[in-house]
This record gives sequence, structure tokens and C-alpha cells, in this order.
Amino acid sequence: MAHAKTGRSLPVPNVQALAQTWNGSTEEVPERFVRTEEVCAEEVVAGCALPVVDLGRLLDPRTSEEEIANLGSACQQWGFFQLINHGVPDELILDVRRDIAEFFKLPLEAKKAYAQLPESGLEGYGQAFVFSETQKLDWSDMIYLMLRPKESRDMRFWPAQPPSFRSTVDRYSAEAARVVSCLLRFMAADMGLEQPESLFQVFRGQPQTMKVTYYPPCTQAGKVLGLSPHTDACGLTLLLHVNDVHGLQMRTDDGKWLAVEPLDGAFIVNIGDILEILSNGRYRSAEHRVVVHPNKERIAAAMFHQVCPDTTVGPLPEVAKGDAGPRFKSVSHSDFMKRFFSTKLDGRRSHLDHYRI
Ligand code: OGA
Ligand code: NI
Repeated sequence: MAHAKTGRSLPVPNVQALAQTWNGSTEEVPERFVRTEEVCAEEVVAGCALPVVDLGRLLDPRTSEEEIANLGSACQQWGFFQLINHGVPDELILDVRRDIAEFFKLPLEAKKAYAQLPESGLEGYGQAFVFSETQKLDWSDMIYLMLRPKESRDMRFWPAQPPSFRSTVDRYSAEAARVVSCLLRFMAADMGLEQPESLFQVFRGQPQTMKVTYYPPCTQAGKVLGLSPHTDACGLTLLLHVNDVHGLQMRTDDGKWLAVEPLDGAFIVNIGDILEILSNGRYRSAEHRVVVHPNKERIAAAMFHQVCPDTTVGPLPEVAKGDAGPRFKSVSHSDFMKRFFSTKLDGRRSHLDHYRI
């Protein structure tokens, strides 16, 4: 799909390899990673739980209505929630965690067999969003894969090590798509859509990409950022903690950062820019970032649920009508993604606000 190809980034050092040597030394963090001011400038609130949404209760006709209201308020007020009783088998989650962790344990040369290529853009093993030699760098590496529709898969980038990686990711992709289509159905109900198809149409074919991010430990963790503040450009993101190390923070209304500590086995779900636009601003695409741990690696797998590439991204007419008009401009999906991938991640002002009316 065109959008991943526009995400080309300049080559930067492999952070996992750098951290392996640097963490044992007494040297200062390399200058390109130092962002002490940014990390320390804003207050971090610990231990405040995100809303919990129960998919079992959404699906049960006896509790559905109540849980839809709960889902709606999480999407409107937070843009982030934890999803429990999602029905993805525990055994599959264990396989995903194991296979992804195994991949990052491979020697650098073996991982590089799946490296991003000049013509592939974002897809493959490497980094995203690096556009200048002077830009500050995130303390992480990632692998980005197109998962759905299946024809979009480019197996050159899919690790063949560990041997079960591909089949595990294939199974997980189907489960994540199932969960997301359930959630969209209940979101349509929360928005009061008489024509829910108008929402499903935008997501038809269920385009899905996966970005797995590896955050090495950093003995001077307070000086670096694992992932710069941003909002997700997609419709809906499903995030799985591959290991139990926390680090994700979401920005609250008063500008503080809230440390996200997921319940065991829960997915973190967040609204992306496109769903904020489709819902005419009722749902929020909240800004988030990742901080790193001083002595533990962190791995997280984000499944981005995108919209059909030939869609026009704009408020759903039915929602906009009820709100006395659209609050966002409409734009073709390809222009929307082009703009997203060509701007360095620097919080929500850089992208979503561009389309606000
Ligand atoms: C992302 C993201 C969060 C994490 O990849 O867009 O926000 O915890 N990841 O890695
Ligand atoms: Ni994100």
C-alpha cells in the first residue's frame, strides 16, 4: 500500500546494538539521543488506571447497552482504554510474545536480513520518522509489516526466524481484525448511527499493519525517549505488551503525562486520528509517548487498523449533520498518509490540527 512506501526514513544506528555496548560504559548518552528537557519538562502521573472495556459484556445482549455507554465514554473522554475478555486465546498471546521476543534476540546480522529497503519505505526492520541528520532520535528499533489485506504482505520482510513467527503473526492478525470489527460495530451504536454501514465501509477490507517496537534499556533513561509524542494516524490501534515492562504514557487534558499500566492480559486500545475525524471530533485521538527503563528492555506490538486506501477521510455525514456541520476538512486517504509520514513526530498539532475547521 502506498502509505507505507511514503514513510522512508534516513538510516540511523541500530539502537539495540548501540545500547549493548553503551550501557556497560561510563560515557554520556550520544548527543543525538539526549532530550533531557523534553523528558523532564512535564509532570508524570503514576498509577491512575485507564477505563476498562469488557468485550464479553458488549457481546452479551443483557449487558450490551450498558457496556456500549462505557465504551463511548472511554472513547470520548480518554481516547484510550484497556480491553478485557477479548476472546483472543491465551495460548496465541503466549506464542506472539515468545516469537516476537525471540526475533529481537537474534544477532544483528540475522535481523538485518529483514531490514527496510530504499524502495520499501517503512516496511521492514529499522526506524521510522527520521528526516534530518540533526533530528533527535528515539531510543528504539522497530519492525513494520503489512498484514491485511493478505495480498499486501511482502514476505521478504517477515522473519523466518523463529520458524513459527509467520504463522503466529498470521493467526494473531486474524484475531485482532475480529476484535476490531466488533469494536467498530459497538462504536457505531454509541455514535447512534442509523446507517452503521457508513462506518464499516470506510474500514472495508480491514487494512491492518503491525509495528513492533523494541526499546532497549538505557542506564540514563531520564535523558532519552523511547518514542516521541504523537497520535496514531490510523483508525484504531490495538497494543499488546510483549513483555511486562511498562513505559507508555498518554497525555491528559491538563498537559500531564499519565503512565499506562495495563491489566494482565488486556489490550490497550486507542483511537487514531482517522476515527477522531470520522466521529467529527467526538472520539479523541490522544497524544502518547514511550519512556524507557534503566535496566529492562521493553517490547510492544501495535496493530494499526487503517481505512480502505481509496476512502476520503472526513466526518461521517450522519454525525456531522447532528453536530451542525463538519469540524474537519475532508481529504483523500493517500494525501492524509503522505502528510503524516513526511512530518517528524512532534505531538498532535503537527498533523490532526491541520484538518480542523
Ligand atoms: C506506536 C506506539 C506504543 C508502545 O507504535 O504508535 O504508540 O507502547 N507504541 O510501544
Ligand atoms: Ni502510537
